[in-house]
Amino acid sequence: MKIGILNSGGDCPGLNAVIHGVVGAADQLGWEVIGFRDGFEGLLPPGDYCVLKPENTIDILKLGGTILGSSNKGHFAAKIGNGNIAEVPSEIVAKAKRTMDQLGINALVVVGGDGSLTTGLQLYREGWPIVGVPKTIDNDLGATAMTFGFNSAVETVVDSLDRLHTTAASHKRVMVLEVMGRHAGWIALWGGIAGGANVILLPEIPFDLDKISKFIKQRDAQGHHSTLVVVAEGASMPNGGGVVTLDANCGGEVRLGGIGEQVAKSLQKLTGKETRACTLGHLQRGGAPTSLDRILGVRFGVMAVKLAEQGQFGRMVSYQSYHVGSVPIEEAVHQLRLVEPEGELVQAARAIGICFGN
Ligand code: F6P
Repeated sequence: MKIGILNSGGDCPGLNAVIHGVVGAADQLGWEVIGFRDGFEGLLPPGDYCVLKPENTIDILKLGGTILGSSNKGHFAAKIGNGNIAEVPSEIVAKAKRTMDQLGINALVVVGGDGSLTTGLQLYREGWPIVGVPKTIDNDLGATAMTFGFNSAVETVVDSLDRLHTTAASHKRVMVLEVMGRHAGWIALWGGIAGGANVILLPEIPFDLDKISKFIKQRDAQGHHSTLVVVAEGASMPNGGGVVTLDANCGGEVRLGGIGEQVAKSLQKLTGKETRACTLGHLQRGGAPTSLDRILGVRFGVMAVKLAEQGQFGRMVSYQSYHVGSVPIEEAVHQLRLVEPEGELVQAARAIGICFGN
């Protein structure tokens, strides 16, 4: 038996842990593992792949990124902008299928986010033996309570806030940290709470700059002369400017970035306090995975092999209540898991004095 694996979409820490889990579990079953390079592109003739064995993947668990490479554009991109979905053209599917057949792949593990799993779902509906593994640093995929990579990103945010605290305090400044989170503010919320931020701005909660300015002035009056603001890249300015777009990426989705600078400029004007902005960007996606993400990745890989062994295709590995199980892929795609504006986590943050600007 042969199992294929590919990583598709933006990378995140823990992808190699999934590969490690798949290779280890498949080896126990006496299965061969084929790793396709650069996402679905590796399936196109003549095929770009390698044989993965325990001996050539022994050291990958602790590595960030993915040894297989990934792609979020190319011939298989499911998202074409504005949330629209495109089917992968039939001639591309047919070409890729020929590679699968020539290699004799019995199951294909697709490690990807919303867009890549949408492609996986299309292929499954066309008869491919697909098993999905959820991957998103933003942690916003439906039907799984957590994905690997998220915890590593949060750790980077917390480390950055710890550093910003000291320089902000020294200069009595407002520091604005822009973090990832395209549609959902999970990284900003978790990182902000754990890193001791005073203000957290999310895509899910519209904010009012005057309220934030009043909050900062009040802090000043109480003797707290520095303030840390965390803003998710997908949060929108109140003036209707919306999400800041740098340029359109060839894959279709717009690139975000710049909200931190805008918030900082406005707050400096409104409060009269020196304000600086800092954008974390891809620092959140790079580097070694935390132990939690390594364990989650390995467990996801092992479960993917189990689903393949049981012939449970069209399903995605899912994490719920400390348990790794599975759900139909269609339950996971097209329904993002957003922060609940009045949910328990936001309430807890409010209870310790964090301002959401509303
Ligand atoms: O969706 C994950 C994500 O990291 C977003 O938070 C971010 O907007 C985007 O990917 C960045 O993508 P790219 O690597 O293509 O710039």
